[in-house]
Amino acid sequence: MSEPTIESILQEKRSFPPSLEFSQKAHVKSLEDYQQLYDQAQANPQKFWADLAQQELHWFQKWDQVMDWQPPFAKWFVGGKINISYNCLDRHLTTWRRNKAALIWEGEPGDSRTLTYAQLHREVSQMANVFKQLGVQKGDRVGIYMPMIPEAAIAMLACARIGAAHTVVFGGFSSEALKDRLVDAAAKLVVTADGGWRKDAIVPLKEQVDKSLANNGAPTVENVLVVERTKQGIQMEPGRDHWWHDLQAGASADCPAEPMDAEDLLFILYTSGTTGKPKGVVHTTGGYNLYTHMTLKWAFDIQDTDVYWCTADVGWITGHSYIVYGPLSNGATTLMYEGAPRASNPGCFWDVVEKYGVNIFYTAPTAIRAFIKMGEEHPNARNLSSLRLLGTVGEPINPEAWMWYHRVIGGERCPIVDTWWQTETGGFMITPLPGATPTKPGSATRPFPGIIADVVDLEGNPVADNQGGYLVVKHPWPGMLRTVYGNPERFRRTYWEHIPPKDGQYLYFAGDGARKDEDGYFWVMGRVDDVINVAGHRLGTMEVESALVSHPAVAEAAVVGKPDEVKGEEVCAFVTLEGSYSASEELKQDLKQHVVKEIGAIARPGEIRFTEAMPKTRSGKIMRRLLRNLASGQEVAGDTSTLEDRSVLDKLRGGS
Ligand code: WTA
Repeated sequence: MSEPTIESILQEKRSFPPSLEFSQKAHVKSLEDYQQLYDQAQANPQKFWADLAQQELHWFQKWDQVMDWQPPFAKWFVGGKINISYNCLDRHLTTWRRNKAALIWEGEPGDSRTLTYAQLHREVSQMANVFKQLGVQKGDRVGIYMPMIPEAAIAMLACARIGAAHTVVFGGFSSEALKDRLVDAAAKLVVTADGGWRKDAIVPLKEQVDKSLANNGAPTVENVLVVERTKQGIQMEPGRDHWWHDLQAGASADCPAEPMDAEDLLFILYTSGTTGKPKGVVHTTGGYNLYTHMTLKWAFDIQDTDVYWCTADVGWITGHSYIVYGPLSNGATTLMYEGAPRASNPGCFWDVVEKYGVNIFYTAPTAIRAFIKMGEEHPNARNLSSLRLLGTVGEPINPEAWMWYHRVIGGERCPIVDTWWQTETGGFMITPLPGATPTKPGSATRPFPGIIADVVDLEGNPVADNQGGYLVVKHPWPGMLRTVYGNPERFRRTYWEHIPPKDGQYLYFAGDGARKDEDGYFWVMGRVDDVINVAGHRLGTMEVESALVSHPAVAEAAVVGKPDEVKGEEVCAFVTLEGSYSASEELKQDLKQHVVKEIGAIARPGEIRFTEAMPKTRSGKIMRRLLRNLASGQEVAGDTSTLEDRSVLDKLRGGS
């Protein structure tokens, strides 16, 4: 593990209190209100969450026990019966929200669609019946590999409705990556589309599914359901492949939501870690429903009149929690956009804000930095006055980007809600409550009520104010991951053993470095493990290394993050070739393409450096710290005395 380093953010002293106008209308109206909620939750977490669960959600049957904590395994609302699709749909139908827009969708070629709660309920119920007809039963797993179209959300909710777990695989992942996930989850059905639009081009999703299923690649998959989106013509395998619209046409819209045990599996979402293949993060139903509901309500102050837009893809946790489940559970209007900003349309996001009068906008620092580069004339040319709150997630936001977001997009009137959280946490963990918390550019501010977070050293001792350390969470929360799918030992090892329990208290290790300032504000500094964050996407360096060494030319590979102005980090790979291969520009391109084929475009190395040997310790460990220094063009810092062969370093410095 590397040491967290403290950067220039230590100097950041600006503070932005919420406006009186915002605070007066907010769900949580003052710092005192926040503090009161925080204190209540800390004093009696079970009562705090149970009261909210009772007030905010529909239960078919109340729980017997609020929390069962057998460290590191937690259960919430044990014995309770609930269905998240019911909470996201059915319960709104008996209110005025029945004909409210639930989902507004803007397609990449300019088509659009709005589904009211009643319409969404109907389509979800039909698809739930289609899934049943295709043999999907409660407890089965369904793979979802989709573009950003309403059917992605419909498929997720249809799974939840009948008690099947979904595993959504980001549409940018390759067929190999898809196959690994379908195999690990033993998926029975795959839901996909003929293609999706991505930056003016078609992504051939169904073709990728075909590749991953070829040669019995994922033997548990029995059926493939295909949404017609791009109409470019695809192969349909009789008996296995079905068109969504064909089956929908014959499906009944009557499909009552299955009462699920609060701890039944809701979904598996794969994410990168330090070792091995991506791990299947397990989220269950009741706690996740409550946690995404409450965090969205309080941190984004969602109101019934809001149009809310999260720009993430449903293939990531942000899309799960804050495009689909959190907003719909709150009865909000959630906007889904298929497009992405690009050189040919640098103002497309602001067009969407203007067209729909978006009130709450949630994006990532990497996108903000890309907008800064594109020039403020694009947002300035649109009417963004509907915006009242801005959110950010995915990586630490640099104060410059924060200030630009605040000034150019937020017109200096919108609170900026910097949300620190992870796939594993289910929802926001450290975040301002916008009517209560003064914000500081670059800080995610303070923990959500019910979250006991701290910064500690490797023994679990809290570090002093403004000292760097490891970010941990000290008490279970309803939205936490329950385990790693099929691998409880990996769950224990990854999250609970790096920092051992302290005085009998288990500490959830997030993998991030942080510091806490004298006001109790958290400043997250980025990953301290072998995970890199490329444009807000998590990548395990080992995954990319395995992809590289699976190429016949590669003898050894070491991957590190290299700072990048827009993406935050990019992949930099050091590669040693097999004897019979020689370095060439062509081979570099070939290796980059190989990584795209194995994982997907998000993992494409920005830079490949050939080297005769890797800097290693005497026990044979690659010294990544040195490689990180080299990749970022810094002088090699720190102790190099453990280096086995010092000449390797000199060669690397001069390397191509
Ligand atoms: C990073 C995304 C600083 C962090 C929801 C974390 C952040 C990883 C922030 C999780 C933030 C996310 N400030 N860093 N506001 N939000 N991160 O699982 O390193 O894709 O561990 O979840 O992103 O990434 P994941």
